[in-house]
Amino acid sequence: MKKRIAVIASGRGSNFQAVVDAIGAGLVPATCVALITDNPKAYAIERAEKAGIPRIVIDYATFPSREAYERALLSAMQDLNADLFVLAGYMRILGSPIVRAFPGKMVNIHPALLPSFTGLHAQRQAVQYGVKVAGCTVHFVDESLDGGPIILQRCVPVLDGDDEDSLAERILEQEHIAFPEAIRLFCEDRLEIVGRKVRIH
Ligand code: GAR
Repeated sequence: MKKRIAVIASGRGSNFQAVVDAIGAGLVPATCVALITDNPKAYAIERAEKAGIPRIVIDYATFPSREAYERALLSAMQDLNADLFVLAGYMRILGSPIVRAFPGKMVNIHPALLPSFTGLHAQRQAVQYGVKVAGCTVHFVDESLDGGPIILQRCVPVLDGDDEDSLAERILEQEHIAFPEAIRLFCEDRLEIVGRKVRIH
């Protein structure tokens, strides 16, 4: 049985595209039922349009408070009846009511080898710190910042001449492999959360 997945993205949407392409190629047994975005200018909206995926724009700027915005987001998410919510470059922190509403049903991609370099500008943090190996992480979302159970990670060497942009580009290539792979495992019912770890069957 195909899973119903919904993607939440704020910007360019290249990870969203990678997931859509993997579904289209028959690699991920899922149907993408919606793209939700907080940003009416997100390029992800155009990608969804091209792929024939319904778009839900919940423009953060039009709400009087973060709570009001999150109530609208939660309501839209509940209406979708999705098996999995995929955070693909969603650049806000999700509040507890939303995280608690979908336990084990939300995954995020982060451009660092967690638990290093949480939050924004992870690639910049890696370059500034001087690590020799960077990468990306796909993890379940819990109430901590980028701290939920890790599904998989991929490594990228940090080269001498790297700046934030060149490293981000190289990490992104690995994100586009890691994210569809993790979603495939979820959709095949092969992921089990045991404590704070994820067992892959
Ligand atoms: C990706 O590098 C993703 O890992 C990162 O934003 C980029 C979105 O690119 N996400 C975060 O930093 C979340 N904290 P995309 O819009 O092209 O997929």
